Amino acid sequence: MSAQQASASAAGTAPLDVAAIRGDFPILHQQVNGYPLAYLDNAASYQRPRQVIEAITHYYTHDHANVHRGVHVLSQRATDAQEAGREAARRLLNAAERAEIVFTRGTTEAINLVAYALRESLRPGDEILISQMEHHSNIVPWQLACQRTGARLNVVPINARGELELDEFHRRLNARTRLVAMAHVSNALGTVNPVAEITAAAHARGIPVLLDGAQAIAHRKVDVQALGCDFYAFSGHKMCGPTGIGVLYGRREWLERLPPFQGGGDMILSVSFDHTEYNELPYKFEAGTPDVAGAVGLGAAIGYLEGIGLDAIAAHEDALLEHATRAVSALPGVRIIGEAAEKAGVLSFDIEGIHPHDLGTVLDHQGVAIRAGHHCAMPVMDFFHVAGTARASFAFYNTHEEIEQLVAALGVARRMLA
Ligand SMILES: Cc1ncc(COP(=O)(O)O)c(C=O)c1O
Repeated sequence: MSAQQASASAAGTAPLDVAAIRGDFPILHQQVNGYPLAYLDNAASYQRPRQVIEAITHYYTHDHANVHRGVHVLSQRATDAQEAGREAARRLLNAAERAEIVFTRGTTEAINLVAYALRESLRPGDEILISQMEHHSNIVPWQLACQRTGARLNVVPINARGELELDEFHRRLNARTRLVAMAHVSNALGTVNPVAEITAAAHARGIPVLLDGAQAIAHRKVDVQALGCDFYAFSGHKMCGPTGIGVLYGRREWLERLPPFQGGGDMILSVSFDHTEYNELPYKFEAGTPDVAGAVGLGAAIGYLEGIGLDAIAAHEDALLEHATRAVSALPGVRIIGEAAEKAGVLSFDIEGIHPHDLGTVLDHQGVAIRAGHHCAMPVMDFFHVAGTARASFAFYNTHEEIEQLVAALGVARRMLA
C-alpha cells in the first residue's frame, strides 16, 4: 500500500486521482530551467484550475456590469454572480447566513477591518492576546490599534517544537483581554492550533475570538459554527481562487456592533450632509465597487475544492508532508523548524552552513519552487535564532515524485554550497 493510500484509508477517504487533478492546472505543465516544474510554494499562493480561470473569463465575456445599482439585465447578473460567490463562502465555512460573509481584499484586509473597527472600544490597559507564531498581518494591525488607544499586545509564547504554550494561553487570558487573535495554522511552522479549545476558553470569559485561517482554509474542513469563533479570515489566492479577494466571516452580533471600516457607495442606505444611515449586513463593510470577478472566481474555487473533498485533500497532503519530513530530515545538516504534533501543509527547514536564499536559488535552477526567508513571521525566526528558513508547502495537486525531486535538488544544493 502506498503512503497516500494508507493515509487516505486511515482518513476513510478514497485516494485522490492526482494525475486527473493536475490536468485541470495548465500552469503546472511546464519546464523551469530545463526541469519539470515542482511547485512547492503553495503557502504563499496556490495555482488556479482551468475551472476558476474559465469562470472569470465567462463573467467578463457575458455578465459584467456594476452591482446593486442597475435596473438592467447585466447589472442583475453581476449582482447574482457576486452573491453566488458569497453563498459559496458561507457554505464552505458553514456560516449561519450570507450576511455574515464580508468580502475583503484578503486575510490582511479582513484582520485590519476588525482591528480598525474595534479601536473605538479599546481603552488604555486593554489587551489583545495573540501568539508568537503569528504572520505579520495578525500582529501589525493590532499594534496600530494599540498605538492609537493605549491598549497593549499580550503575546502567548511557543515551545521548541513550534507549538502554542497552552498553559500560558490560559494564564494570559484575563479581565483586560478584549480579543484573542490567533492563526488557525501557522504559515512559518505548519502548526495547527487547538482553535476550538482556544475559543471555548476565551468565550468562558466572554472574550471574542478572531481566527486567521489563511493557511487552514484549503487544507482542512472549517466549520465556524462548530468552532464557535467570532471572526474568521481567509484569502482567495491561498485556496485556488483569485488574488485581491478574501473573506471576513463575522458573527452577526459582532458585525452589527462594529462601526464601518470605510465609507462610500454601497455601504449606505441614505446620505445627507447631516447624517448617513448605513446599509444592512454585509454591505455596511463593503464600500465602493466590489471585486465581482474575484467573487466569481472565489465561488468557482470553492466549488472545485468541494468537488475534490476537503477530507481527501487533507489525507493526501498529510501523506506528502510525512514523506517530505522523513526524506528531508534524513539529509545531513538539516534542522526541521516546526515539529508540532499536529501540522498541515508546511515543511520549514534550515541546512547548516547554507543561507536559505542560496538554497532557494539552487533549487529553482532545478525546477523546484520553494519559499526562502522570514515568511512574514519575523518573531518566529527570532525565536528559532535563524534569519530565515527554506519552506516547502504542499497542495492537493502535488505528487510524491515532486517530493523526490525536492530531495534530489537539496542533495545537489548541499554538494554545491555546504
Ligand atoms: C497565516 C497567514 N496570515 C495572513 C496572511 C496574509 O494573507 P494575504 O497576504 O493574502 O492577505 C498569510 C499569507 O501568507 C498567512 O500565511
